Amino acid sequence: REAAYDATPYLPDRGGLPAHRRAAAGCRGCPLYRDATGTVFGRGGTGARLMLVGEQPGDQEDREGAPFVGPAGRLLFRALAEAGIDEDDLYVTNAVKHFKFTREETGKRRIHKAPSLRETLACRPWLEAELRLVSPELVVTLGATAGRALLGPSFRVGTDRGVPRPLPGDENGTRVLATVHPSAVLRSPRREEMYAGLVADLRTAADAL
Ligand code: URA
Ligand code: SF4
Repeated sequence: REAAYDATPYLPDRGGLPAHRRAAAGCRGCPLYRDATGTVFGRGGTGARLMLVGEQPGDQEDREGAPFVGPAGRLLFRALAEAGIDEDDLYVTNAVKHFKFTREETGKRRIHKAPSLRETLACRPWLEAELRLVSPELVVTLGATAGRALLGPSFRVGTDRGVPRPLPGDENGTRVLATVHPSAVLRSPRREEMYAGLVADLRTAADAL
């Protein structure tokens, strides 16, 4: 029988964000650690009132070891500024902490692959630890993977976005609001419209704080 994918055995049984970040660097809870450069843990302080959850690190995030430092991150931070959200008030992380990719047959370019539900669930203990340690007032999920990680496998961005609701399983009064992924905005033929929708959802998030 195949071993279950699960990050739980790698979590420290005590300590704050720094201890968790150090332990996550050695996680082998699913096969994604094998090909990636390293674990990309969240960034921000425990005082953050707002937590943003993306899908997984991209090529640039994998090389730099920090979330949302590439093109999707630039679009995201522009949208956050337009919505009046202060960067200092944020904790930014991903549902999955390792970059999943395939290589082009020719050349060296690494092409993003969406993580499976199994990998997403394996990695969730890290996200749960971040939620516990930061205890934000509101979590904004970006795209389908983060939405599924926190709102369940039947989550759909199209129907479930833009409305704050209680975070399932949470006891600290944290709420969650789903929106689109900034990479989906970048890829969309209707980029302006989708970008405006992202900013509108982030304004709703700012108002809910
Ligand atoms: N996309 C994500 O979901 N997360 C990142 O950190 C970068 C791109
Ligand atoms: Fe561990 Fe998550 Fe990386 Fe899988 S993706 S090895 S569960 S940190």
